[in-house]
Amino acid sequence: MPMVPMKQILEEAAKKGYGVGAYNVNNMEQIQAIMRAANETKSPVIIQASRGALQYSNLIYLKKLMEAAVIENPEVPIALHLDHGNSFETCKTAIGLGFTSVMMDGSLMEDGKSIASYEYNVDVTRRVVEYAHERGVTVEAELGCLGGIEDGHGAGIAVDDDTHLTDPDQAVDFVQKTGCDCLAVAIGTSHGAYKTLRYDKDGNALPPRLALDRIEQVEKKMEAAGYPSYPLVMHGSSSVPQELVEIVNKYGGKMKAAMGVPMQDIQWGIERGVRKINVDTDGRLAITGAIRKVFIEHPEKFDPRDYLKPAREALYELIKGKMKDFGTAGHAGDYAPMTLEEMAELYKRQPATV
Ligand code: G3H
Ligand code: 13P
Ligand code: ZN
Repeated sequence: MPMVPMKQILEEAAKKGYGVGAYNVNNMEQIQAIMRAANETKSPVIIQASRGALQYSNLIYLKKLMEAAVIENPEVPIALHLDHGNSFETCKTAIGLGFTSVMMDGSLMEDGKSIASYEYNVDVTRRVVEYAHERGVTVEAELGCLGGIEDGHGAGIAVDDDTHLTDPDQAVDFVQKTGCDCLAVAIGTSHGAYKTLRYDKDGNALPPRLALDRIEQVEKKMEAAGYPSYPLVMHGSSSVPQELVEIVNKYGGKMKAAMGVPMQDIQWGIERGVRKINVDTDGRLAITGAIRKVFIEHPEKFDPRDYLKPAREALYELIKGKMKDFGTAGHAGDYAPMTLEEMAELYKRQPATV
């Protein structure tokens, strides 16, 4: 099966009411682990690469690894997505590489840190949509800002500051003006392991305070404006499983108390219109814990395969669980894949902006 436009994956998920994880990758082992989980659970999948990942893999390696994933998994609909594109040029580069979806994150300026104006966000997103849709490529946009600044990404917004959450009325105006295919909403999540910086009296991390009702509000307004089942995206959706943090620390890591987004909250969102769920941190924890374990238990070993294999296995187990929990499992064969050319034709017939 060729890579499919992400729009198709999200629309099919909306029809049946499930969510699809978008998993960040940088290397072969991550791609293999996620694809094995997708193949075995029969799940459509979104593989995403950040700008950092593209740089790390020198662009071409990631592209070729993804081509291998497609060849090896002909039954799995795969979308290849650019995570947090920071400019028109970055999105253009990803599209040139064969990505079937890009995120134009115009909620921040090109530096990935300064908060952008609404007008800037509309303008840059609309330009990317025009370029991408001509080529059948899906566009995700972001309205409002995530909290925190981990991964060098984010405006450093405090966890209890709700002034940057997505405004449901503005969401409708934004989609009408830009024609973006799905929208990342700011509902109080943030990237990384240290999402809350809130602790109880014993020093245990508390879960993030999420404005989940915004999902419902945005979805209702979108429906009233003529966009039923509009796909929403949840960033910063790692659950930071305590057992993974414990493994990291048991084998010499020094992670502070950390807490992520509880799976019930994600499932609540999926029931109300969240279709794409971004996960990076949990994979990092699984990989790091597995590698640390080998280093501590077998300090004599020095063949990279001795620790990369368990790392790959740990990531596979984690993602397999998420595919089941998000409801993605079992849906890979539900539909015939669309090509980018077919999607481009569809966009021509249905103009995206009003
Ligand atoms: O946007 C955040 C993702 O976790 C990607 O992180 O930029 O370190 O690759 P990265
Ligand atoms: P996590 O850091 O919670 O995994 O979020 C990743 C993300 O949103 C990538 O865009
Ligand atoms: Zn993100």
